[in-house]
Amino acid sequence: MRAIVTRPGAGRAWIAELPEPALDADDEVLVQILRVGVCGTDRHVMQRDFSGGRGLPAGDDYLVVGHEAVGRVLRVGPGVRCLRPGDLVVPTVRRGCPTCPACDAGQSDLCFTGNIRERGIVGLHGFLAEQIVDREENLIPVPPELATIGPLVESLCTPEKALRRIGNARAHLPVGGELNGVERALVTGSGPIAQLAVMALRLRGIATWQLARQPQDGPAAELAQRVRATYVSLREVDLDQPQARLGAFDAIVEATGAAEMSVLMIGLLARNGVVDLVGGPSERHPVLIQAASLGGMVGKNLTVLGSVNANAADWQAAVRDLTAMHRTFDGVAADLITHTFGLDDVDRAFDRVPGQIKAVVEVTGD
Ligand code: BGC
Repeated sequence: MRAIVTRPGAGRAWIAELPEPALDADDEVLVQILRVGVCGTDRHVMQRDFSGGRGLPAGDDYLVVGHEAVGRVLRVGPGVRCLRPGDLVVPTVRRGCPTCPACDAGQSDLCFTGNIRERGIVGLHGFLAEQIVDREENLIPVPPELATIGPLVESLCTPEKALRRIGNARAHLPVGGELNGVERALVTGSGPIAQLAVMALRLRGIATWQLARQPQDGPAAELAQRVRATYVSLREVDLDQPQARLGAFDAIVEATGAAEMSVLMIGLLARNGVVDLVGGPSERHPVLIQAASLGGMVGKNLTVLGSVNANAADWQAAVRDLTAMHRTFDGVAADLITHTFGLDDVDRAFDRVPGQIKAVVEVTGD
């Protein structure tokens, strides 16, 4: 079968011919991969130093990339309980460590040891292949209407987890609702995670602002308008006094991954506000933080969270909400997929292209 692989530090991925995977255990499922989304993490994986084989699947000197997939069940082992051939599924990404209580409880997104493996990212082959095998517990059933936009389920898990954690962080407040009194929310960035976060908030009826670099009349602003969110270009904001233009927010999802933006968000929180950082800045440079921002954290009971990956509840919420978005926001979810490539076109699939939100590789299509 054909698959897309990378090697230590190669900086790119290419097509390879690999043996078809076989069912080894009773609870395993053979899945035909239909399409796979491309994400910034894939580019990091291709550039990463896998020295000493660290991060590569045991016994192999290459890694099949890709972790945002949708596929169709081809065959099931005798111990598989619910899935049947023909069912549409989305595979989860992270596989837990053998020793910690979080992984033991099925919450590998909260792993205490960090000895996790992630398909297509670290230690396990990914999904950019014509077929994959995984255990039934790692395959989330999705309705047929998500066949085309299914790769967005994985992207949506991140904002779902962020919203769940923001709700939890406000659970002690004497106010109600799923997000415990969040009336005004802000999302930063204009990539797929940011766009999906805006849509997830709008689905919950929350007044939502989006702040990003794109101009006031660009594609991100248009998407925001289509889900009745308010888009503000960073060019319109005085970074010394951002509240003057934006006001204050009960909840913020920071999805740019820029350290300066993460710090700026603290000054945009309302009393009892919560910001969740999902972008994960990785630059090695110091950022300036105003002492008064830290004072504000105390005086306003603020919470700064960071969150990675997602657990089963977030995957279920992502399937539920992507289906609802597909029905509610006329065509917006599908329009997040701006570029589609074939397996043979893989070089172009990983290029950064202006105006690209989500690129998807059609693996076997149908
Ligand atoms: C993936 C997550 C993963 C994280 C860290 C993200 O791109 O969506 O599933 O946990 O990278 O590797």
